[in-house]
Amino acid sequence: MPSTMNNIAKQGDHGSAMMPVIQGVGRAAIEIAAVLRGAVFRGALGGAGSENIQGEQQQVLDVLSDEIFLEEMRSTGFICAVGSEEQEELLVIEEYTDADYLVLVDPLDGSSNLDVDGPVGTIFSIVKRKTANSERPHVSDTLQSGREVIAAGYVLYGPSLMLVCSVGEGVHGYTFNPANARFELSHPDMRIPEMGGYYSVNESNKKKWADGMGDKLIAMKEETGLGMRYVGAMVADMHRTILKGGVFLYPADDKNTTGKLRLLYEAIPMAFVMEQAGGKAMSKDIAILDIQPEALHQRVPVYLGSNTNVDALLG
Ligand code: AHG
Ligand code: MN
Ligand code: MN
Repeated sequence: MPSTMNNIAKQGDHGSAMMPVIQGVGRAAIEIAAVLRGAVFRGALGGAGSENIQGEQQQVLDVLSDEIFLEEMRSTGFICAVGSEEQEELLVIEEYTDADYLVLVDPLDGSSNLDVDGPVGTIFSIVKRKTANSERPHVSDTLQSGREVIAAGYVLYGPSLMLVCSVGEGVHGYTFNPANARFELSHPDMRIPEMGGYYSVNESNKKKWADGMGDKLIAMKEETGLGMRYVGAMVADMHRTILKGGVFLYPADDKNTTGKLRLLYEAIPMAFVMEQAGGKAMSKDIAILDIQPEALHQRVPVYLGSNTNVDALLG
């Protein structure tokens, strides 16, 4: 009998507390996957006619995924508030303001891939509140460094539906089995290779990168002979980087002077997973997990991957 996500309960000190929340993420993943598959028939592709806090055009599917995720977090009964890419303010779950945990989420990552039927994902992390349970949860509860994250992971909507997560005791990948509607442990103890793999970056920005990163990338390519892959959905690029090795980066540039990717619901969860998989996760000269967040939608430069490749770029 294959292991299901129930085995999270046996992992580390926080596994049993995190299991119901991660199972909620799994339910959201199944619903979002179904909405993605049927989107073209319901006219749900394309813009929603609204902007998110980042000034980006929201897609209909960004909004639907956000609603589904929030609803599943509410249904766990363990989450007092959700910080989402698609919501300007912290969303308090009124029925459970006394619950212990908050979730940070990018409900639909890589949404520019939607119109071309490319891979997309969901990214999440879970933190314990700092305010007393008797108080109303506050945005300050989300501003915790990655060292305080209890669990994090991502969902990949690809040819199969995968949920990859860590509760601080390694990284484990679960694949949805349509035959029994369960996520089954398919990738136990994922470890990033030290050598090989690919470099992954939007290289068209090279001329605009700060800190001589363009020259460093050229030098690393020549030295290692790494091939290039770029999906343009962080989840898919990160998943490949863990499995095959190499490096994924989104440096600061002239336009995105502090980087493009968001600290709390993109960089920190992926850095948590990357370190747990034996890799390195830097934001230039500081480990992403050591950054003290200052705002819910803050952006940072991101370098994730095999130790040798990340060092070669930042050394
Ligand atoms: P989102 O769709 O959640 O806004 O995230 C998009 C991010 C990330 O998934 C990807 O790595 C990056 O944007 C791609 O950006 P470029 O198109 O600038 O390469
Ligand atoms: Mn994203
Ligand atoms: Mn998104």
